[in-house]
Amino acid sequence: MKSQFDGKKIVVGVTGSIAAFKVAGWVSSLAKEGADVTVVMTESACRFVAPLTYGALTGNPVLTDMFAAEESNAISHIQLGEEADLIVIAPATANTIAKFAHGIADDLLSTSVLAADCPIFVAPAMNSRMLANTATQRNIGILKELGFRLIEPESGQMACKTEGPGRLPEWDRVREELLAAFTPQDLKGETFVVTAGPTREALDPARFLSNRSSGKMGYAIACAARRRGAEVLLISGPTALAAPFGVLCREVQTAEEMYEAVIPASHEASVIIKSAAVSDFSPETAAVDKVKKDDAGFVLQLRKTPDILQELGAEKEKYGYLLVGFAAERCEHLEAGEKKLVKKNLDLIAINDIGGKETGFETDTNQVTLLDRHGFTELPFTSKAATADLILDRVCKLLSEK
Ligand SMILES: Cc1cc2nc3c(=O)[nH]c(=O)nc-3n(C[C@H](O)[C@H](O)[C@H](O)COP(=O)(O)O)c2cc1C
Repeated sequence: MKSQFDGKKIVVGVTGSIAAFKVAGWVSSLAKEGADVTVVMTESACRFVAPLTYGALTGNPVLTDMFAAEESNAISHIQLGEEADLIVIAPATANTIAKFAHGIADDLLSTSVLAADCPIFVAPAMNSRMLANTATQRNIGILKELGFRLIEPESGQMACKTEGPGRLPEWDRVREELLAAFTPQDLKGETFVVTAGPTREALDPARFLSNRSSGKMGYAIACAARRRGAEVLLISGPTALAAPFGVLCREVQTAEEMYEAVIPASHEASVIIKSAAVSDFSPETAAVDKVKKDDAGFVLQLRKTPDILQELGAEKEKYGYLLVGFAAERCEHLEAGEKKLVKKNLDLIAINDIGGKETGFETDTNQVTLLDRHGFTELPFTSKAATADLILDRVCKLLSEK
């Protein structure tokens, strides 16, 4: 599937901060995803990184001088801002932020920004004291009022050997923020609860019962829903995945903990997507000490865990949320999914055929069949990220019919 950056005209404005080197990586990633990237540098920025670096990475000339650009007839100071689909200023110095806040247009970058008619992201990067300075804070406040989109700096060790806020964030986070500008905000105003991952039921202090869920499908849904404008709470069992940007995450271990987290959260939700693989059974008691191999004939007594989906289905009309479940089935998966849809009072069920090598647990790809009151729809075999968006398209349709 094509990247949302593909074919987009993106202007990257680089200013005079030591973090300018980091943006070479961002520019390279944007170009790899098919964006047509033009880098504009301030005079100070050219002291930190040679324009050639960005030129080689984008395949486009790097613009540094307003008058030279005009003379060569290549591009005018107005055209750049007018034609861009998105502008991102990174790193943005205190000086450049001050100029934007006050409409100063004394170089190609600040002039292009004044003439622009597209989303403009500003990623400040500076020493913590410069950032905390009242003048800088006031200027950042003005930028927000003017409609600039702020990419909040992170805390950590700075180039000047001090610790604190002011660092340029990593690309993964920035990418998410930029992508939202190209994504229809069709889930704005919705409050999602998404569950993901496996649960772990302790046998003794060292061992547990669990399953092969990696959490990838649920994390992809949480990430896509946030990008489409929803507020998302992700309740996750143990996984190796990083929390998606902009999503509130709550970690749980056991089915019982999942229940305790999901039920109260459901009262505030407009959409609940239960993609977690919650253990159906838990050991009756967990041994206090590690069970030894010489304890011959170890018998494990299991009890049922609470049926979270059943309870959510029973309470659905009372709280008014849309309820989406998942079914992981190996054979006769459509019949099994249909039964679950009715039994648990779901609005939609995503049926995973876990019999395939590249679908279901642990993989980055999936093949899902959706079932709702309209009938079955077989989604294509594709990435979990693309599958997440297709599931959310159906959620949007069901929300509009509510
Ligand atoms: C080594 C060095 C590192 C600098 N790093 C930063 C920085 O991270 N953030 C910042 O706002 N200014 C930084 N400055 C100061 C700016 O380069 C200076 O304010 C310059 O006038 C900014 O010009 P510009 O906004 O047109 O790029 C640094 C200066 C030097 C010499």
